[in-house]
Amino acid sequence: MSKTVKTPDVVVRVEKSGNRYNAWDTDGNKRTSEITTGCRKKAHKGDYLLGRFTGTTGKTYWRKVEGEAPSVTTDSVPVDVPTDHAEVLSFIHGSYSLKPRGLMMNELKWKYLVRSGVRGKNIMMTGPAGCGKTMAAKSLVNALDRPDFYFNLGATQDPRATLIGNVHFEKKSGTYFSESVFVKAIQTPNAVILLDELSRAHPDAWNILMTVLDYGQRYLRLDEADGQQTIKVADGVTFVATANIGNEYTSTRVMDKALMDRFTVVEMDVLSENEENELLTYMFPNVDSTVLGNVAKIANLTRVESKSDTARVGSGISTRTTVELAGLLYDGFSLVEAAEVSIYPQYDDAGGVDSERTFVKQIIQKFCDDGSSDDLFNEEEVLEATEA
Ligand SMILES: Nc1ncnc2c1ncn2[C@@H]1O[C@H](COP(=O)(O)OP(=O)(O)O)[C@@H](O)[C@H]1O
Ligand SMILES: [Mg+2]
Repeated sequence: MSKTVKTPDVVVRVEKSGNRYNAWDTDGNKRTSEITTGCRKKAHKGDYLLGRFTGTTGKTYWRKVEGEAPSVTTDSVPVDVPTDHAEVLSFIHGSYSLKPRGLMMNELKWKYLVRSGVRGKNIMMTGPAGCGKTMAAKSLVNALDRPDFYFNLGATQDPRATLIGNVHFEKKSGTYFSESVFVKAIQTPNAVILLDELSRAHPDAWNILMTVLDYGQRYLRLDEADGQQTIKVADGVTFVATANIGNEYTSTRVMDKALMDRFTVVEMDVLSENEENELLTYMFPNVDSTVLGNVAKIANLTRVESKSDTARVGSGISTRTTVELAGLLYDGFSLVEAAEVSIYPQYDDAGGVDSERTFVKQIIQKFCDDGSSDDLFNEEEVLEATEA
């Protein structure tokens, strides 16, 4: 391959906001959601700029570029929370353009999400795994130009340390308390605080958050801290939580009703076959469109099945999985191969021919061979389910 010097079409500088790394281009637009966290973090640590390039396949990618920092500094960008009613209205109703194209979410739901954010509601994104809850929550955070913090509560073993802090001991000074990033976050006026996977958090975390999320209380109790007993939540702080809620999540602890009551629920819709197809086509323009159409059909068939009274699978194939699968197709794997590694492991094979896995395999095979194989479906059944 010949080496040509390429010029990036967009250049960004990465700044730290709360515990997140935000990317700003020369025009002051936020590009955070377009660049991976690792890439942004490195650029910030290494104090270099990132440029956007287009590869031979037409996909864009970001890498280090030399040059002066863009002149726009985020310090000079005001924290933009509209207060005037007319302004709020126009912000909400003009906000669909702030939704990243790669996020499939209908206009009403997106506006409802933005409105809840602007109005300082505690937001709870619900829906089955892999339907875009975290993605939508992060997109909202990016759309609102405010200091933001991210906490994955499903991944923390010690909610007290994460949400409150740690008590340390030193020979000289005795015990002392070091507060958590969360304590800093709630004291940051107008911060947007993402509480990802709240449904999977330890019940201790829910208890700690009860007073924090209560509109009438809005404080954090520091049991362990000396002296100071409570920390007030600063004005304008917005919480955005996510929860896997769906009948297939029996392992998820059922969240306390009192905690749920503190949230405005925004339900993420599972994509329709058309939306799924549109998303995959947008993300993978170079993959055969018929195959992508089949992936959307397969996912939809499993979703329809999982909702039927006589469901043979507990849950449908998620959008996360179809995106992964399409990525494998893009990298040259066949549909059969891609399904084998990305879909089948999610379905139980206990019960042999009656297993969930066998059922899903048969749907997929329907789209892989000439249709002459003797399986669970005939053409009409497949058509029926597709049209449902
Ligand atoms: N509605 C959607 N629009 C676009 N991409 C989606 C959507 N839902 C899922 N995805 C894809 O699946 C991945 C996982 O989504 P995520 O937001 O982490 O799901 P959740 O938090 O609901 O489990 C995303 O990175 C994206 O590639
Ligand atoms: Mg998530």
